[in-house]
Parts: sequence; C-alpha cells; structure tokens
Amino acid sequence: MPKTRAYSISAEDIAAERERVGGDVDAVNVANVIKLDDLELRDVGPTDVHLRILAASGEHNVDHAALADTVNIADARGGKIYPGNSAVGEVIGVGAQVRKFEVGDIVLTHCNGEPDRFGFPMRIWAYDQPESIGWYAEEAVVGEWQLVKAPLDCGLNLWEMAALPLRAPTAYHLWRRALGIYRVKVSREQQAVVNVMSFGGGVGELFLMLAKAEGHNAYFCSGSPERRAALEKQGITGIDQKAFNRFAARDDVKAFRRHVTELTRGEDMHIICDMLRGPVFPAGFAVQARQGVNVSAGWQLSQVIQYNSTLASVKQITLDHTHYETLIGVEAATELYGGVFKPTVHREIYAFEDLPRAFEEMHQNTQTGIPIIRIATDVPASVRALVP
Ligand SMILES: NC(=O)c1ccc[n+]([C@@H]2O[C@H](COP(=O)([O-])OP(=O)(O)OC[C@H]3O[C@@H](n4cnc5c(N)ncnc54)[C@H](OP(=O)(O)O)[C@@H]3O)[C@@H](O)[C@H]2O)c1
Repeated sequence: MPKTRAYSISAEDIAAERERVGGDVDAVNVANVIKLDDLELRDVGPTDVHLRILAASGEHNVDHAALADTVNIADARGGKIYPGNSAVGEVIGVGAQVRKFEVGDIVLTHCNGEPDRFGFPMRIWAYDQPESIGWYAEEAVVGEWQLVKAPLDCGLNLWEMAALPLRAPTAYHLWRRALGIYRVKVSREQQAVVNVMSFGGGVGELFLMLAKAEGHNAYFCSGSPERRAALEKQGITGIDQKAFNRFAARDDVKAFRRHVTELTRGEDMHIICDMLRGPVFPAGFAVQARQGVNVSAGWQLSQVIQYNSTLASVKQITLDHTHYETLIGVEAATELYGGVFKPTVHREIYAFEDLPRAFEEMHQNTQTGIPIIRIATDVPASVRALVP
C-alpha cells in the first residue's frame, strides 16, 4: 500500500477551534483546523492510476469544511476528511487495464464524485462522496475515469493550469446553461450581444471569459482592484463592489442600480452569475434585465435567498442552480484552457507546508487571485519549462 503525507480536516479539530473562539465562526483561524497527516492509500487496482501531485489550487469548499458553516462535512463523513479536489499530477503507475494514460503523463483531476444517469455529479469528490480521498497530498490513487490529460501546449504555465480543474468546468457548465436558458426566451436573431455580469471569485472570472470570448459585453463586480485589473486587460469591464459597500444597505443597492443603468445604457444585465448569494443576490436581482437569467453554483455568503416572485414573473426572470459538469463537459472545458481561460493566480505560490496559511488567507479574502500550492519541489522535465 502506498503511503503519503496528506492534509486532513477532523471534526475534533473543528470542535477544538470552535471552543477556542467561543463559538464565534468569524474568529475561526482555518489554519488551526487543516492538519498535515500520514495516510495509507489503497492498492493500485486494475483501472487505477497512481499519481504524484505536482500542484493544487485552494478551493472554497475547504473553507466551508473547516468552518462547518453549511454542513459539518467532516462529522458527516465519520469524523475526518482528506480534502483537495483540484490538482495537476504526474502518472507514476497504472493498473493493468488502464488504456488512456501511461507513466510520465501529466494529468488533471476533476471533482465529479459520482455521475447520475445524465452525467451530472450526485456528489463531489473529496467532499461528500463517501470514502473519497483528496489531493492535498504528495501522492494519490484514483480511478482512470477521474483524469483528463493536461493540455501542456495551451499557453498556460503550470500554476495557471493548476487553478482550473475545478473552477473551469464549473464556469463552463454555468455559462452553457445560462446562455441556453436565455436563448429559449430571446433568440440570437433577436439579440446577438447580451450583457453578462458576475460577482467576485475565480469561477465568476472564468464565466466572464467565456462570455467575452463569444462576443458579449462582460462586467466583473468585485472588491479586489488586482482581480478587476487582470480582467480589464481581457476587455472585461470592472465594477468596484466596495464603492457600493458590498451592498450592506438598501441605498448601496440603489446606487449600484443607477451605476448599472448608466453603464448599460438602460439595458441592465441579461445574464448574471452569483456564486456568493447573501447581500450580493438582491443587488443582482435589482439590475436583472427582462427575460434575464441568474445562475449559481455557490452559496458562499448565504444558503438562502429571498425574492419577489411576482416581479420575477412579470420580468420573466429565471433563477437556475447548477453544481458541476459531466465528464464529457469536463473534457470540453479543458479544450478552452489558454485560449479562453486565462486565470488570475495569487502572487505567492505556497509551499506544501504553507497550505494551512493559504486557506486562512483565502478565508480572510486577501489574495490577489486563485491560490496555488506547489506540492512537488522537483517537477518532471516535461513541465519544467512551464514553471515560471
Ligand atoms: N457547486 C460547485 O461545484 C462549486 C464549484 C466552485 C465553487 N463553488 C462555490 O462558489 C463560491 C465561490 O467560489 P470561487 O472558487 O469562485 O471563489 P474564490 O475564487 O475563492 O473567491 C471568492 C470570492 O468571494 C468574494 N468575497 C469574499 N468575501 C466576500 C464578501 N464578504 N462579500 C462579497 N464578496 C466576497 C471575493 O471577491 P472580491 O473580493 O473580488 O469581491 C472572492 O474573490 C464558494 O462558495 C464555492 O464553494 C461551488
């Protein structure tokens, strides 16, 4: 059985941290909850692939797991999880029946934990999928079906590629659903170019890159000047969310409403991606155009939304909820690496030992882009030129 070092989150550590801060979730230090552990991996079966993890991105579901703010997933999974569902790895062994990969290949993981009969995930790998072991680890054993070949010639460097395996398929699915629903109502013949807005965060940025690449008007409403500047370079208009106090009061939403009217010459936003909910949702709802679509796969600030159903009917607004792509959709999203998806990566590349700090900084929302953790200190020759 291969052995590895891997990060874990235990219900015991969550409880101890909760006790330390007197139950105040806002005071939790996520770095105290994510611990480096020793782990025995399963034997490499006939359809399995043995990986050495090169780099991984910090994903927000780890924050949710450490805070236990939505569900206490460590507790629900029997007391401990090994997180990490987005990684780039090197194949170091394959089972006898593996056909798609060979030793030396560089691969990406996806996080569809168990497809339903249409291919959509019922559960997410290394989160709520039972027995699933994540990739904030030096090595992993996964099924062949969980891997995609990394597009090494796509123009992205290794860290940029590592930013995408979870976020890009999420954004790809959100975009094809949102546009598809809008087109049920308003045809391309009637309106070629639509206004698309997203709020802060890595998934929202990628969503806008898809909209922009297809010729639409794209607007990024974020509190981070660095992230807005990176998107403006790609022709995506920034809206400073902090100029509207992150929509803390009704007057902030009214001021935002006026700003969007001006920016879009009274057209408003036809498609909105809202991964945050909380105070962001009413702000998006206020600037949603007639026939508009609001799509979400996230609930970072709140799990519950409230809206005026009459108004939504009168304006024919559709709210749609997605989770993650099918396996085929993951392959398609990977084709867009570099050509469409050019992610903003946080300025520090974290060492494996600094992973808990990366998560506390994500929690504090001080990062200038998607956080990347370099797990292998030496990378194989095939990707050495891709390390900046
Ligand atoms: N269903 C799925 O498969 C799926 C997949 C991916 C993500 N998600 C969920 O979607 C959410 C976003 O994920 P992500 O990967 O896009 O996020 P991310 O890259 O980690 O970024 C989160 C963003 O949230 C914004 N933010 C943080 N605190 C805020 C606050 N108090 N008010 C307003 N905005 C705040 C920040 O943007 P600014 O500071 O720039 O405004 C930050 O960049 C998370 O809850 C994640 O778990 C779900």
